[in-house]
Amino acid sequence: MKRVLIATEKPFASFAVEQINEILTKASYEMRKLEKYTSKSELLEAVKDVHAMIVRSDIIDREVIDAAKELQVLVRAGSGFDNLDLAACTERGIVAMNTPGQNSNAVAELAIGMMIFMARGNFKGGSGSELKGKTIGVYGCGNIGRRVARIAQGLGMKVVALDPCITKVSMEPYEVKVVQSVEELFSMSDYLSLHIPNNEKTKKSVNFDLLNKMPKGATVINTARKEVIDEDGLKKMLETRQDFKYISDIAPACHEELNGKFEYRYYSTPKKQGAETSEANVNAGVAAAEQIVDFFENGDQTYRVNK
Ligand code: 3PG
Repeated sequence: MKRVLIATEKPFASFAVEQINEILTKASYEMRKLEKYTSKSELLEAVKDVHAMIVRSDIIDREVIDAAKELQVLVRAGSGFDNLDLAACTERGIVAMNTPGQNSNAVAELAIGMMIFMARGNFKGGSGSELKGKTIGVYGCGNIGRRVARIAQGLGMKVVALDPCITKVSMEPYEVKVVQSVEELFSMSDYLSLHIPNNEKTKKSVNFDLLNKMPKGATVINTARKEVIDEDGLKKMLETRQDFKYISDIAPACHEELNGKFEYRYYSTPKKQGAETSEANVNAGVAAAEQIVDFFENGDQTYRVNK
């Protein structure tokens, strides 16, 4: 019998777990759960004899992979997989997958909500500004970026976009202006929504020089990863440009330093909540369970992310 561990420091909604369990039980697999764990040792113990794992942003590093002696497939229920040590998986012959698109609407809606929150003075009263007629730059045009573009168009915003990985053709059905350089994107954007992955190319790539190209009163919305921001550059920008605003769903390491210092201009959610909707929990959790069954029963590796 295949043993499948759901290891989620930030658990799925219970009815999502019930649906995962139904899928696994139907395949005659055993589902195990490790939720809200507070130490790595709990994770190391739980992975020892499982054949498959479903995780969220949980850090699955080499030590965890080494401890998971029987692991064959590891599924990140979500989009970004920078929390998985892919090299360690590959060395062990473990297939690593993600579930692209399954939580993208939840993240896109949060990005739009954050934009409105900043435009309306953090909902603390006083006169704000409207989004209609403003320009939003969508940096990264995957499932989330494209969804943000669509919703922003519905709000009457102009959309400009750039994706370092995909071509202009990919955005054509969205009727957005695709720019050719990141400098151009930032210089045109009253609002800039980040949807790039965290990797060697993007780490700290959003720096002071880039931010400083943004027009007066600009806002950056980060529902991607904190690592893509150069935090020294962010601090310098908030200090030198009194008109600049930054809102994030992933607190930067310097959060304590920024929090309270730049009232109305800096905000971070207490805990990453982009994918925290019941719909996204079900979509991503169910997709992960189905992918595991499909992998074991049919050898399917469609969403594999390691080589
Ligand atoms: C993702 O990459 O899918 C999102 O950042 C959501 O992450 P989470 O599952 O940790 O909420």
